[in-house]
Amino acid sequence: MGQIPNHVIDEVRARADIVEVVSSYLPLKKAGANYRALCPFHQEKSPSFNVNPQRQIFHCFGCGEGGNVITFVMKREGLSFPEAVKSLAGRYGIDVPEDRDKKSGDSDEIYSAVQTAQDFYHERLLKQAPSSPAGGYLEKRSLNSAIVEKFRLGYSPAEWDSLFNHLSGKGFDPAVLEKAGLCKQSSRGNWIDRFRNRIMFPICDSTGRPVGFGARVIGEAEPDEPKYLNSPETPIYIKSRALYGYHLAKEMARKENFIFVVEGYMDVIALHKAGVENCVACAGTSLTTGQADMVRRVCERVVALFDSDTAGVQAARRAGPILMERGLKTRAMVLRGFKDPDEFLSANGVKEFMALAGRAPTFHEFLIDMTLSAANLADIESKMAAIREIIPFIRSLDSEVEKSHYARMLSERAGVDYQALTREINKGSAPSSSPPARTAVKPLTQRKQAPIRRAERALLDILMAHTSLIGKLSENISPDDFSDPLLKSVYETILEAFNNGAVHAADMVNSAKDDSVRREMASISGEMTPKDKEEAEKAAADCLSRIRAGRGELKKALNEFVEEFKDGEKRGNMEEAKKAYEKYSNLEKK
Ligand code: CTP
Ligand code: MN
Repeated sequence: MGQIPNHVIDEVRARADIVEVVSSYLPLKKAGANYRALCPFHQEKSPSFNVNPQRQIFHCFGCGEGGNVITFVMKREGLSFPEAVKSLAGRYGIDVPEDRDKKSGDSDEIYSAVQTAQDFYHERLLKQAPSSPAGGYLEKRSLNSAIVEKFRLGYSPAEWDSLFNHLSGKGFDPAVLEKAGLCKQSSRGNWIDRFRNRIMFPICDSTGRPVGFGARVIGEAEPDEPKYLNSPETPIYIKSRALYGYHLAKEMARKENFIFVVEGYMDVIALHKAGVENCVACAGTSLTTGQADMVRRVCERVVALFDSDTAGVQAARRAGPILMERGLKTRAMVLRGFKDPDEFLSANGVKEFMALAGRAPTFHEFLIDMTLSAANLADIESKMAAIREIIPFIRSLDSEVEKSHYARMLSERAGVDYQALTREINKGSAPSSSPPARTAVKPLTQRKQAPIRRAERALLDILMAHTSLIGKLSENISPDDFSDPLLKSVYETILEAFNNGAVHAADMVNSAKDDSVRREMASISGEMTPKDKEEAEKAAADCLSRIRAGRGELKKALNEFVEEFKDGEKRGNMEEAKKAYEKYSNLEKK
């Protein structure tokens, strides 16, 4: 990923409120002007993770982690800086201009090839006679022309190379077609199409550009033939970050604050036919964290709606925790007696469907129901196996109240003793409910600071709170005037960012050269800073004179030390030299 323009970074930082973003990952509690939480970056029992809404900065007093909203997303999601900016930009609907480097020159061509292929397949479908196999299949699944248009459905002809010929006729390089997952070279060396004689479902990115295809056989698949063929991963089609129907679902999902996550392309289409647009499918993979994040960008509630076969229940079981881990309120359901939503909607209509969805159980209740109903409760071994399967899910709940709620539900439905079950749940809780071994960080003992250092921090604090003072004050103090090297770097960072046009402390954090500088900046909290600019200026002047006085004293002491030390050394009097050293170091500590 190349450079993102600074104005875009600043806009993302300004629009993405840190309290809002952090809250989507962990519960924040108001504490004075700030917010508190248990730190997500180290293990702790009492909250030392602090979010300052006015500064738009977070800082943990325990582990020292800190930064702005972009830093938070980087750390929390394990993203690079540009990835975090892009992720936040997506969430806040801010356009990030495409990079214009060589690599994206390649992907531009791949986008264009897939787009042209989509148009080709679509045209071909429109040309199919209603009596043709493809036409007949549309008819049978009631895929009317409105749906064909909305989803840009297509048909890949039965010939070996019709797409290849079409695209090479338009000047596309075979290498690009291969990279796009559209064509490949046969063992005899000729170029052939990947998809032949199938109904084509374009898979789009969040902006609606086609990036790949799902391709269904017409009618029943032969025993040795897959029902669906899907595009391989390509530079533009990253399966773990694509959701079928996402671009069409966003708007309604935002409006309703919820979305259906379903299994198949046809389920999404069936829901659209019924007027339900807030639905996506994971398209041939099991649900990933990246997909859950995409969902989280548009709404807070999910109904995972899976096929009623064992594979569907298994998929729901895997998807639930991933969705909940991303802070989504998750319900889950299957449509008993019907293969999938398409079948249910054709039989019962949308009203009944929505009523059922409205009563969908929470993920944990769903899990308890599904697991117990698959077990033989009359048989203690089968019953215990089912309970053992459910327990880890209950154990992983954060809230004690929720834990006991589901423990009660499980004890009642399975007919086991509640107290015994609770003991069982708590038994394993220490090792398995704690997040995977993160190195425990000892809280920093509040470092006792030398007076000069304190004055230096106070000055930096004022500069970050009132960045309009930087220009004037910077004439009176240079980085070299700072006695603490870390604070010197903070000051240099602030100056550089200011000279590059940053006016907000939270933006200056982006210029920090390394982690320790960024953390130090975030730890300069600003709780004692004067709000009033004039008062702040006076306070800054006071800091300046304290820093200068301190420096003067130190310099004098250093000179004296050097003299006395030399003297003592010259005379071979180590006692005297040592005394000089002690005197000097006592002064420096002050
Ligand atoms: N799938 C796949 N490869 C297969 C079968 C299924 O990639 N061989 C994926 C597709 O994304 C499909 C989803 O799993 O949409 C669900 O499968 P299925 O229920 O069989 O397909 P539907 O989309 O429901 O299609 P239909 O109603 O025509 O069976
Ligand atoms: Mn299905």
